[in-house]
Amino acid sequence: MEYSVVIPAAGQGKRMRAGKNKQFLELKGEPLIVHTLRLFDLDPLCRQIVLVANQDEIAIMQDIRKDYQIKKVCAVIEGGKERQDSVRNGLNFFREEQIVLVHDGARPFVTYDVINKLVRKAEEMGAAICAVPVKDTIKRVIDGVVIETQKREELWSVQTPQAFKWSLIIEAHEQANKENMIGTDDASLVEWIGKEVAIVEGDYQNIKLTTPEDLLFAEAILTEKEKK
Ligand code: CTP
Ligand code: MG
Repeated sequence: MEYSVVIPAAGQGKRMRAGKNKQFLELKGEPLIVHTLRLFDLDPLCRQIVLVANQDEIAIMQDIRKDYQIKKVCAVIEGGKERQDSVRNGLNFFREEQIVLVHDGARPFVTYDVINKLVRKAEEMGAAICAVPVKDTIKRVIDGVVIETQKREELWSVQTPQAFKWSLIIEAHEQANKENMIGTDDASLVEWIGKEVAIVEGDYQNIKLTTPEDLLFAEAILTEKEKK
């Protein structure tokens, strides 16, 4: 089953503290965003990629697409204030689409196995996300004091890609926008309009590069993948 993907890359990368958008940091000599784009570019089931960029970085993204010969980027769209605004702008590029994935530009290690499972599940259920069981015990803390310890067996750490029927995710995003609802991921908007979201077991290597030490982990993962 074919799919298209929206890749939000219009953040600031503040937690990375690199003084620039982390999408342009190099991993083994190539910008982070190139690793992510290439993955989808080389997947025969991926029809097209909509890349979402900061307004003043659209030209750089266009250059990257040319320089690294990324063929499936059909549009570079301007992002918005929140990630959710960027994703909505990207989703609105499509007029009629079956299955769309939303995938963070900062997550370069997703596997085709996980992508395939997500696409199949979204086709069946409307919405599917990948996640891994949390390894640490998670507590709720307010003002430095523990309020509650959550049951670890019930907690999952959620990643991207998140896969949806396009009509469902666009409805969720448009409604959220109208009612000023902000979710920390796209699936939460689907949950908010009362629809089910399926879970697919992800992969601990599918990290999002967020803080400086993630660059070390990323180099190690890349070294390991290059051996295969
Ligand atoms: N993103 C986006 N538009 C925004 C905010 C984020 O397209 N307004 C993208 C980022 O570029 C990233 C993904 O959403 O690929 C996940 O966000 P995150 O990891 O939080 O990245 P940043 O927002 O760039 O980082 P930070 O929160 O540390 O500033
Ligand atoms: Mg952010």
